Parts: sequence; structure tokens; C-alpha cells
Amino acid sequence: MLLTSGETLEERLAQRGVSRRAFLNFCGVMAATLALPAAYRTQIAEALGSVRRPVLIWRQFQDCAGNSESILRSPHPDVAEIVLDTLAWNYHELIMAGSGEQAEAQSTEAVKTLKGKYLAVIEGAIPSAGDGYCTIGGRSATDIAHEVVSNAAATIAVGACAWDGGLVQYGPTVGQGVQDVVPGAKIVNIGGCPHNSANTVAVLVYYLTFNELPALDQYNRPLFAYGDLIHDQCERRAYYDAGLYVEQWGDEGHRKGYCLYKMGCKGPAATYNCPNVRWNDGTSWPVEAGHNCIACASPNFWGNMSPFYGRVPNVPGFGADTTAETVGLAVIGATAVAMAAHGIGKNVQGRVLRHRDRAARSERGLDVAPTEARGPSGQPGPSGGDGSAQAGGDGAPQAGTDATAQPSTDQPAEPGSGGN
Ligand code: SF4
Ligand code: F3S
Repeated sequence: MLLTSGETLEERLAQRGVSRRAFLNFCGVMAATLALPAAYRTQIAEALGSVRRPVLIWRQFQDCAGNSESILRSPHPDVAEIVLDTLAWNYHELIMAGSGEQAEAQSTEAVKTLKGKYLAVIEGAIPSAGDGYCTIGGRSATDIAHEVVSNAAATIAVGACAWDGGLVQYGPTVGQGVQDVVPGAKIVNIGGCPHNSANTVAVLVYYLTFNELPALDQYNRPLFAYGDLIHDQCERRAYYDAGLYVEQWGDEGHRKGYCLYKMGCKGPAATYNCPNVRWNDGTSWPVEAGHNCIACASPNFWGNMSPFYGRVPNVPGFGADTTAETVGLAVIGATAVAMAAHGIGKNVQGRVLRHRDRAARSERGLDVAPTEARGPSGQPGPSGGDGSAQAGGDGAPQAGTDATAQPSTDQPAEPGSGGN
């Protein structure tokens, strides 16, 4: 466990005047975000309450700083005050007072004295075209990444750039993701441009509670956040199924909130929990705000999902007659074979098969039961899981779809296709 000398989180909360009720409420929100049954709220509260301040080292390389902005500007007081403020941020160049050699020495010292005990967060891509493209304190980003990531208990790569190079991979520095620079390290990728800080905090909470990382998909993204198709959670889905689409920006359909598929929405080919967790303290998300999803949390989305207003291709008719369930199944079917070949977790495979079964039942007009709630490592929760604690609330949107419905790796998208 990541214990360092100092106060417990519970002591810290008391000092800050955070009530027990507010703390338990936060733990409940985290359990829902993690797609855990509500019964886990108590376990999370007990674990977080007794944990001593874990050290966090946040290193930033080539990006726009949007991921730091995303987490620092989180308006959610529970998130900001209960978890982020209680971490011992030993290094974050954007917010720390120290600078230069003094700051670098602090990072190096923490790595040395807390080897294997601290958490690392990496933001931004690491240049592969030459060490001179990104140096900090005279050291290359590659060198620093190796030092910080290989000695960490676990690393969270936040945002598209830290995951797979993001937009930076197409620039002169040919940026790479952390997992490519430090292969074999224990890394969780929180894709997105930027990351949704609610998911990053949820990973931290999970790790501090269960002393392990949450279940991951084949891209090392947490299944609780990337396990379900956006299309299956979208409030405009009924319009898709009814064949009612926005034809032009600002038309009557747009004003009425019709489906954005024809405007290039990548929701049928992308997985993420933004329809449920949402953004800006749960205020809204892109599709609700009237813009198509561009699949910003999908692999290499800048290339694979461009042009952002191009339609997801090769849909054999769409709307009420051929739904995106059918589209998704084609992708999922191919992916399931690939997963079997690579021996990827039976849990994930099981979810794919459940999805197929549910879709088949749905097509035959049979009732489809809610997906079971997941517990740690993708197992059912301690209460047996009634499904009610799904991040989506009623469980219905989590229709057994899977992160493996991603188009990019298993089914590379044609340039300009938008992927499918
Ligand atoms: Fe929602 Fe996009 Fe799917 Fe339409 S295509 S239902 S807007 S996710
Ligand atoms: Fe990104 Fe699409 Fe969500 S663009 S923020 S994955 S709706």
C-alpha cells in the first residue's frame, strides 16, 4: 500500500471541514463511476479513510496542458478536495512553487526514496525524433519518463498524447505514448482529448481502495470508463432508431435534438462513459450540447476518426431497419475472434458474447435484462450486483457492449472514414 509518513485522509478531511456525509456521498459517486454496486461505497470509504497521503509525481511532456487544466479546473469540490488535495503532489511543474534544478532534484529524490511506492501521472507525448525536442532541466523527456514510470507503483497516462502520441505523433517530433517508450510498465491509459478528470480520480480511488488497478481493456484503458459504446448510452438513440436525423447544422432536427449520425457522429464506433459521467461537473457532454462525437477517446483518433464530420462508413442502411447494434456486432464479432487468439480475459469475452445474445434477443422483440453490475476486476459486486449501481443509473445503457468495439486496431478505419 502506498503509505508514507503523515496524516490519514480522514484526518485531513476533518481538518478541511469536510463532513462525513459529504465524504460518503463522494464515495458513492466514485462507486457509480467505477460501475461498482452501491455496496462498495462503504469499502471505498473505509479504505480511503485510513490511507495515508500517497505521493504523486505528475510529469508533463509534449501537449497543450489541457489535461492539467482539466484536473485542476475540476469544479467538483468532492473530487478536488477529497482526493486531489489529499495526495502529496511531489512534482507538477504547472502548479509547484519550486523550479529549475531544485524542482528536478525533488522529483529525482522522490523516485529514489519511494521506489515502487508512489503513483505517477504522465501528460503529453514523448518525442521519438530526437531527444533535443523536449528537455527539462537538461534531461530528455525519454530519460525522465524511464526514471519516473519504471520506478512507480503504477502510472496513469492521461489524455491522447500520453496514451498513443495523440496529435503530436503527426508533428515533427513524432510523439509517442508512454507505453511505447517504457514497455512493460504498469500503465493505465485514460484516453480522451483531454482526459475526463472524473475517470482519472476514479482510477486513483480504485487503486487506493483495492490496492490494484481496475480491469483494463486491450488498450489498457479501464473498462468501467471505456467498456460501453457511446451510441448505447446516448439520449438521442431513440431518434437514431426512429430514423430521425439532423440533416444540416441548425435545421429543425438539430433544434429538436435528433440523432447526429448524418453529421458525422462517431458514437456508434466509440466507447466512453461521457454520456453518463459527462463534463464540467456533470453539466453536459458533446452530443447533448448539439455536436457530434468525434471519438476523442479512441485509439489514434486524430488520424483514424478524421474527417470529424465524415460519416461512419459501410453502414448497410441505418435507422429503424438496421440499428447500430448490428453495426457494432460486426466489429465485436471480429474482435472476439482476435481476443480468443490472444488469450485476452474471459471476462471481456463473456461481455461480448452477452452483447450478442442480448442484441439477438432484442431483434426478436424479447425483453433484455440489465447487464449485471461489475465489481473489482470485472467480477460481480459483493451484494451480488443488482445492476442499479451502474454508472448509467438504470443499467440499461450498458447493454453488454464492450471496449473491444473500437474500430482502430482490430478494424483499421479507412483514411477519412471515421472508422467503423
Ligand atoms: Fe447519439 Fe451519435 Fe448514436 Fe446518434 S449516432 S444516437 S447522436 S451516439
Ligand atoms: Fe470525446 Fe465523443 Fe465524449 S468527442 S468527449 S468521446 S462524446
